[in-house]
Amino acid sequence: MCWLASLFNLWNYRPFVLLAVQRSVDALGYATDFQKDGEIVKFAVEHCGYALQFASEEITKDREIVLAAVKSKGCSLEFASEELKSDREIVMEAVKQNGWALENASEESRNDRKIVMLAVEQYGKVLEFASDELKNDREIVMTAVKRDYQARMYASEELAVDREVVLTAVKQSGCYFKLAFAQ
Ligand SMILES: *[C@@H]1O[C@H](CO)[C@@H](O)[C@H](O)[C@H]1NC(C)=O
Repeated sequence: MCWLASLFNLWNYRPFVLLAVQRSVDALGYATDFQKDGEIVKFAVEHCGYALQFASEEITKDREIVLAAVKSKGCSLEFASEELKSDREIVMEAVKQNGWALENASEESRNDRKIVMLAVEQYGKVLEFASDELKNDREIVMTAVKRDYQARMYASEELAVDREVVLTAVKQSGCYFKLAFAQ
């Protein structure tokens, strides 16, 4: 489709672009004239948030468009402006959609208990991206380790060797039962 569209200069033709961005995440990458067109970018990110990577810098500061992008694909937070990476509602929606989005949230957001809890409830290993303070928060670490025993390696030094945390990790890993039966 892409070479054909290029041949006929369709990437300059708005009605074509409007349709194309709703079918393919890459379309906005070709439609260079429309990367700062709010309406087109909004259609594109609603179809697939990752289209935000092709948006103009100005658009990555647009709250409404970035919100639509992270609701579709949480990890498109990577392409949002620095300011929006610390916008609580945007980061919350991103992490709700995909816990891994925490990796590219602002430092401040990675120290936000509610946001980090949402993330580690989905993927324990996302604990890696939490602030040092939250890596030392028992409830956060326990939630992460219950979800994935390997999360223990990202806990603070203190909690990584904590009895309750270690026991939970061992249970979660399945070793507990093997050990119990080996006795
Ligand atoms: C975070 O951003 C980096 C590039 O800055 C990217 O390589 C990585 O995949 C992103 N992570 C997520 C989970 O989106």
